[in-house]
Amino acid sequence: MTTIDFVTETLYEAGALARDRYADRTRLHIAQKADLNDLVTEADLAVQRQIVDRIARTFPGDAVLAEESGLGLPPEGRPERCWILDPIDGTQNFVRALFPAWGISLGFVERGSLAAGGVYFPITGDLFLAERGAGARRNGGTLSVSALDHLERARIDYDVSATDYRRPTLDAAPDLFHRVGGIRIHGCAVAALCSVATGDLEAYVHIALNPWDYAAGVLIVEEAGGRASTWSGAPLTFFEGRRSVLASNAALYDQFLPLLKE
Ligand code: IPD
Ligand code: CA
Ligand code: CA
Repeated sequence: MTTIDFVTETLYEAGALARDRYADRTRLHIAQKADLNDLVTEADLAVQRQIVDRIARTFPGDAVLAEESGLGLPPEGRPERCWILDPIDGTQNFVRALFPAWGISLGFVERGSLAAGGVYFPITGDLFLAERGAGARRNGGTLSVSALDHLERARIDYDVSATDYRRPTLDAAPDLFHRVGGIRIHGCAVAALCSVATGDLEAYVHIALNPWDYAAGVLIVEEAGGRASTWSGAPLTFFEGRRSVLASNAALYDQFLPLLKE
């Protein structure tokens, strides 16, 4: 089975499970993690378990980096093959049925570089896929980032997460706040990243994102013709913990980058 076929089948299967749990979400057990607003539900755990089991059956020996259940620490050494999973990105939206913006994200890193990735939104049924060098698609249709090159007309998602990061996030980019045409916060990194890939947004920024939040989404943006890096302009890596992330269309990347202070 090809990597991208595996990603596709895995996301569809996990999406059905997540959709069932979402329909019954008022009955889900919800626990709080280190931050008061960082939640994990039975749905996150069930989806992760299903996908991790599938990887183990299909590609025994591959490493997995995933948000829940103790799999969030970078694997020992630098694994040649590693799957990076967020079973539900946008858990707060899932719990409150907001928008609803939540998705399942699965990336595949080979020798340190993203090779393939997919994001599935079970409520809309949208499946985003990308393979390095082969472009990005939504439900089979080719994606391109927007061509807009005017900062004052740009629409961006300036994401904030745990309370500890709020002040640094605000302090890091006052000029960006003032100059862009519009700011949104979806509370779901993968929804915003996929919106950059479709051209609906010009950029997504986050001061400290975990690899499972950005791995698949960043490849989808890059394969749709966009650019992604840390706020210093360094390439994004996957085994060093949280990273600042700028993902944008190609036309505005060089204008966004100097407005972000790492
Ligand atoms: C969160 C979302 C949010 C971002 C947080 C993430 P979760 O993921 O992507 O947009 O600001 O940093 O932790 O907890 O819903 O999987
Ligand atoms: Ca997440
Ligand atoms: Ca999550």
